[in-house]
Amino acid sequence: MQSFPDGFRALVLGSSGAIGAAALQQLQQHPRCGLAIGLHRRSQPALDFDQPQALEDAAKVLAAQGPFHLILNATGSLHGQGLRPEKRLAELDAQRLARSFYINAIGPALVLRHFTPLLDRQRAVMAVLSARVGSIGDNRLGGWYGYRSAKAALNMLLKTAAIETARINPAAVLLALHPGTVDSALSAPFRGAEIGRSPTQAAADLLALIDAVRPTQSGSFLAWDGSSVPW
Ligand SMILES: NC(=O)c1ccc[n+]([C@@H]2O[C@H](COP(=O)([O-])OP(=O)(O)OC[C@H]3O[C@@H](n4cnc5c(N)ncnc54)[C@H](OP(=O)(O)O)[C@@H]3O)[C@@H](O)[C@H]2O)c1
Repeated sequence: MQSFPDGFRALVLGSSGAIGAAALQQLQQHPRCGLAIGLHRRSQPALDFDQPQALEDAAKVLAAQGPFHLILNATGSLHGQGLRPEKRLAELDAQRLARSFYINAIGPALVLRHFTPLLDRQRAVMAVLSARVGSIGDNRLGGWYGYRSAKAALNMLLKTAAIETARINPAAVLLALHPGTVDSALSAPFRGAEIGRSPTQAAADLLALIDAVRPTQSGSFLAWDGSSVPW
């Protein structure tokens, strides 16, 4: 993490998840990291999208420990919590669609609202884990209506927030990142024969990418290897 100052401060949201936990561990073990805090639904303070007020309160509590140089939002859901990826139009269900949008787009939007003010003004990256399947240009297989479209909405929210944030904090870099296929509870039912990368490797790749990005790249949608993903 050479682009970050000595003693840099980091925040991982969704640190109970596979990628979030691995990223938090690597940041906590990094010799130049002064503070690495993980938040999730059972942490104190808690980060639970079903409690929007708690999200705002958490940001207020953490402001005292900031500003933060790195904020990684690793939350997201594909199945469970009333979600089930749809294969056909006939499977679309209003409540499930709304739930996917709530977890994958609206919760992260509130994170953007409450946590971008915590970013450092000299060097800061806020990255949100999106997914390549949220790319409209790259959609060749179809299916997964709710998750795909919620991640596409997340990408638009991120891009719009990057434009606004550039006016307020020109040093800040806001990114939507695709972590690749990673072994986790989220991907397990859908990987089939595909072997995903380990959460440890995925987190290391994402942190290396975050280290390399510059303010001119704010508002980008990037894959873990640094390549651009079409919107
Ligand atoms: N794994 C992959 O192959 C892959 C591929 C492309 C994109 N991604 C994206 O990468 C991100 C992380 O995925 P992962 O594989 O690490 O998944 P994971 O292990 O299932 O972790 C998901 C995280 O999101 C949190 N979360 C879920 N619902 C929440 C809610 N309502 N409020 C607050 N937090 C909530 C979970 O908290 P709990 O522990 O409390 O449930 C957990 O911390 C997601 O955005 C996912 O879409 C993953």
